[in-house]
Amino acid sequence: MSTATDAATVAIVGPGAIGTTVAAALHQAGRTPLLCGRTPRSELILEDGERRITVPGPVRNDPGQIDGTVDIVFLAVKATQTEAAAGWLAALCGPDTVVCVLQNGVEQMEQVARHAPKSPNTSNSPGARIIPAVVWFPAQGQPDGSVRLRGEARLSLPDTQAAQVVAEALRGTLCAVDVTANFQTLAWRKLLQNAVAGLMALTHRRAGMFARPDIATLAIAYLQECLAVARAEGAQLDDETPEEILAKFQAAPADMGTSILADRQAGRPLEWDIRNGVIARRARAHGIATPISDIVVPLLAAASDGPG
Ligand SMILES: NC(=O)c1ccc[n+]([C@@H]2O[C@H](COP(=O)([O-])OP(=O)(O)OC[C@H]3O[C@@H](n4cnc5c(N)ncnc54)[C@H](OP(=O)(O)O)[C@@H]3O)[C@@H](O)[C@H]2O)c1
Repeated sequence: MSTATDAATVAIVGPGAIGTTVAAALHQAGRTPLLCGRTPRSELILEDGERRITVPGPVRNDPGQIDGTVDIVFLAVKATQTEAAAGWLAALCGPDTVVCVLQNGVEQMEQVARHAPKSPNTSNSPGARIIPAVVWFPAQGQPDGSVRLRGEARLSLPDTQAAQVVAEALRGTLCAVDVTANFQTLAWRKLLQNAVAGLMALTHRRAGMFARPDIATLAIAYLQECLAVARAEGAQLDDETPEEILAKFQAAPADMGTSILADRQAGRPLEWDIRNGVIARRARAHGIATPISDIVVPLLAAASDGPG
């Protein structure tokens, strides 16, 4: 039986590691999305344990080829690529389109609204409904172009009407969705995890480095600094959060990487501003001193953007 959800039209903008995972989840449930990327490809492949899911393409690479808007856009480009992907948002979004931003950070709505088409009624508000997501799962692009899912696919969304549309589209798929009233706290917790992972991009080392006592001490001090900012922003995180995050890195396989390290090793721009810079910026607004961010953030920014 066909339902309104089955009929929802969906596009993935940025069919990389995260975009391929969500595309595969939708395809398996019979809701094959339109694929909008940068590199043309005939199909996407997700390796999930023993399963191999092929999502039929093609991956389109020209927003000019799009002849209508869709109900849901999953935006899964890196935050550094959002501006370049604005043409896709212009082509795919109508006033009722829900844009679910599958990016790290706590500023997805503001950042994406800047590049979304404007509502014809109010030139300052976006002509689409934008919602952030916390992406909890690791997925990794492979040299052959396939993507390996390295955990249970799960998203957290804020408890809003637009989020219900997304949750409905992913219902019963391999990608679980929690809709939570506690979204801000979850997003900040994930941000703290991302922020400390930034140290791996500076050392060019994987999770094993957190076994070093000196790195563990630095990580805790940095996480405590970030925790003070998170709380000032309203996140309800408890005193044990820094130790819990460090313990997770220490328990991870020593060769576990992070996307900011992969980007650094590949010489790509880093998401330093949405993962680390944001904490220093928000701290300044609250008058909170951030001596560790004041060193970490410029080093990441220079590593990413140069010059030199
Ligand atoms: N990977 C993870 O485990 C993970 C976990 C949690 C959160 N995240 C977050 O999720 C977001 C996406 O990360 P990711 O790892 O999926 O990145 P990714 O693998 O690099 O995927 C980005 C995709 O966007 C495409 N793209 C680039 N510019 C574009 C444009 N102008 N128009 C359309 N598509 C474009 C890229 O195409 P090309 O193939 O041409 O490069 C690529 O397919 C990031 O904010 C990341 O921090 C990632």
